[in-house]
Amino acid sequence: MSFTNLLLIFLLYLLIKSISLTTASWQYCYETGNFTDNNSKYAINRNLLLSTLASNVIKNGGFYTANVGQDPDKVYGRALCRGDASAEDCSTCVNSSSQDIMIKCPNQKSAYMWSGTPACMVRYADRSFVGKLEMDVPVNKFYNEDNITSNLTEFDLIWHRLMESTAKEASMGTSRLKFATQEANLTSIVTIYALMQCTPDLSQNDCMFCLRRYVAEYQNCCRGKQGGGLKSPNCMLRWDLYPFYKDTTPLATTKDSGGIAAGTVVIIVVVSVIMFVVLVTLAYFVLRKHKQKHIRSNQESRYCKGDYFDEQFDLFSTSFMIDSNNSAIN
Ligand SMILES: *[C@@H]1O[C@H](CO)[C@@H](O)[C@H](O)[C@H]1NC(C)=O
Ligand SMILES: *[C@@H]1O[C@H](CO)[C@@H](O)[C@H](O)[C@H]1NC(C)=O
Ligand SMILES: *[C@@H]1O[C@H](CO)[C@@H](O)[C@H](O)[C@H]1NC(C)=O
Ligand SMILES: *[C@@H]1O[C@H](CO)[C@@H](O)[C@H](O)[C@H]1NC(C)=O
Ligand SMILES: *[C@@H]1O[C@H](CO)[C@@H](O)[C@H](O)[C@H]1NC(C)=O
Ligand SMILES: *[C@@H]1O[C@H](CO)[C@@H](O)[C@H](O)[C@H]1NC(C)=O
Repeated sequence: MSFTNLLLIFLLYLLIKSISLTTASWQYCYETGNFTDNNSKYAINRNLLLSTLASNVIKNGGFYTANVGQDPDKVYGRALCRGDASAEDCSTCVNSSSQDIMIKCPNQKSAYMWSGTPACMVRYADRSFVGKLEMDVPVNKFYNEDNITSNLTEFDLIWHRLMESTAKEASMGTSRLKFATQEANLTSIVTIYALMQCTPDLSQNDCMFCLRRYVAEYQNCCRGKQGGGLKSPNCMLRWDLYPFYKDTTPLATTKDSGGIAAGTVVIIVVVSVIMFVVLVTLAYFVLRKHKQKHIRSNQESRYCKGDYFDEQFDLFSTSFMIDSNNSAIN
């Protein structure tokens, strides 16, 4: 088999993998109560509530809380989009999550789900959670499989400083948005990129508490890995050695936008086609430029452990960015 054929198979594998990754999600269905009937008032209220989240979340700057019905069948709900998500990404993500969560947690009275790219959170419960910090639930931990090759002692030092500083900035946000991204130079060519966010209904102290507590998970989750993160009902953090977030105006500070016409499937197909074209172009380029060189080994295999599904489309561009120089984001 020729090298070109092998390369094509590899690219096809990447393509298929990226499609399956886009649908990845993580949820926790609480064990605090079930409803028994799909036609019950609670089930109907939940359905109604979840169906309103996608359109309202973008009107409210990426964070929206609502409730539907009367006690004892009252349902409380919330949607949160990552601070750098566009209105379209946000709406698409919340729309599909709102439907997904009912499939994944068919009869549980409470649940939360993180999904999409960039990630969004959808949550519902039979009690209000506004302003409440919840630390005793399972959380979504994930890491980049690649190991750190540089001095880990030095990495830890720079990493901890970066985490503390990013957490401070995120927690000092507003009641509409508590979000921050920061970078730190590890070496002259390698940069650590960090992103943190709290639900903006938290106080500054609670946000800081949440982020610090999960930063501390580093020791048993992700130490020695190039990237990782954690998503909980109240806060999320992530870092990696490539710029996985967009350096754009956050949703919460932009005016508004129209609705989103395309469904998730259409988006996946379009993105896949674009990615395929990019990959083929890239392959052509690589073949021409480095005919003798061995192709970079399995770049993609690092992004599979845990629920490491975010931002997979950055894979190629960012790997190459890191190689050339680290001026990708400022
Ligand atoms: C709720 O339903 C799930 C299955 O959907 C079941 O595993 C669980 O034990 C139930 N919990 C209670 C409290 O009945
Ligand atoms: C409600 O519907 C879902 C999906 O249609 C199903 O999985 C679930 O078992 C149903 N629950 C009850 C209590 O009938
Ligand atoms: C949500 O997705 C459904 C299909 O899954 C689509 O019919 C609907 O228009 C979408 N709504 C929004 C607000 O994007
Ligand atoms: C990272 O290191 C661990 C243990 O040292 C090893 O098992 C694993 O294969 C390494 N991962 C990669 C992607 O090299
Ligand atoms: C790593 O860096 C620390 C502090 O700069 C140094 O003390 C240590 O010897 C280094 N370790 C290795 C394996 O180079
Ligand atoms: C990282 O290094 C570059 C130059 O190599 C510099 O311009 C930039 O300000 C540095 N960034 C930080 C956060 O120190």
